Amino acid sequence: MNYPHEPVLLLEAVKALSIISGGTYVDCTVGSGGHSEAIARKLGAEGRLLCLDRDPDAVHISKNRLGFLGHRLVIGQASFANLADFLQERGIEKVHGVLLDLGMSSDQLEKSGRGFSFRRDEPLDMRMDPGLPETAYDLVNNASTQELESILREYGEEKRARRIVKRIVRAREGNPIRTSLELAELIKAISPVRRGRTARHPATKTFQALRIAVNHELEQLVLFLERLPGLVREGGRVVIISYHSLEDRIVKQQMEKWEHPCTCPPDFPQCVCGKRPLFIRVRKRAIRPGSREIARNPRARSAVMRVAERVLQ
Ligand SMILES: C[S@@+](CC[C@H](N)C(=O)[O-])C[C@H]1O[C@@H](n2cnc3c(N)ncnc32)[C@H](O)[C@@H]1O
Repeated sequence: MNYPHEPVLLLEAVKALSIISGGTYVDCTVGSGGHSEAIARKLGAEGRLLCLDRDPDAVHISKNRLGFLGHRLVIGQASFANLADFLQERGIEKVHGVLLDLGMSSDQLEKSGRGFSFRRDEPLDMRMDPGLPETAYDLVNNASTQELESILREYGEEKRARRIVKRIVRAREGNPIRTSLELAELIKAISPVRRGRTARHPATKTFQALRIAVNHELEQLVLFLERLPGLVREGGRVVIISYHSLEDRIVKQQMEKWEHPCTCPPDFPQCVCGKRPLFIRVRKRAIRPGSREIARNPRARSAVMRVAERVLQ
């Protein structure tokens, strides 16, 4: 079977998990199961793999792909923000390692029919979990000018937010903006033409911003990080691959805080707050894909991987 999604930093991520035979690992963003399949091969005869994804299509694809694990595979639809409940419902207290490969998969972009791509004419939906209450259509057609502008600025870091939102608001006064291509064309029409192989589509940042807003992606990541320390065994690793600076900043700051939690004033001779490190960073610097991987898989170009190890308190 061919899977359109090529896993990013595959060897590096699996190595960073430092998998022990017989351990219990969680892939919190199973997608089409590329990382999971590589993890599964290292688990030994007794190891277990727990997989989750918000997107029911991803769960369906990966259930088939990872079926060879038999009863050692536990897979279900859930957000990683609810990892604690996912584990508790299955009677698992702590795990040996956790992987998060953020963003979206090529399957979602190319095959979901949910309007993630500005190159396809699909309904403006953008929900990873079809049970979420609000779609990109709702935001684009009903959000106030101010709300839309702050979404584009904050989540897309789009410098042309005001201009783009003005155009959207003018267009929707006539008829609602229904599809991804309609939205992309509106933005393209007011954007300077850029040429060259690396020129990005002018709607790239708007689409990223809407997807982040619809799926509450940053809030979910913050919740996950807050709840994680209680779920990882001593010596267990967390490996997180992010695809834009907003996500990576949150991960980086949390990992620094885990390592240096002490809140005592710097001039105190010794710590009195009693806060001890929860994780230490395995490498201080982030790991990025090399030029060969990027040439083979351009999706990898913005990837940044960070790794931390749970320590005894
Ligand atoms: C880059 S893809 C993962 C690809 C996967 N590593 C593979 O090798 O096929 C990201 C996946 O994360 C999922 N996702 C995003 N936010 C999520 C969340 N809060 N909880 C669970 N899954 C999430 C998406 O639905 C998508 O399938």
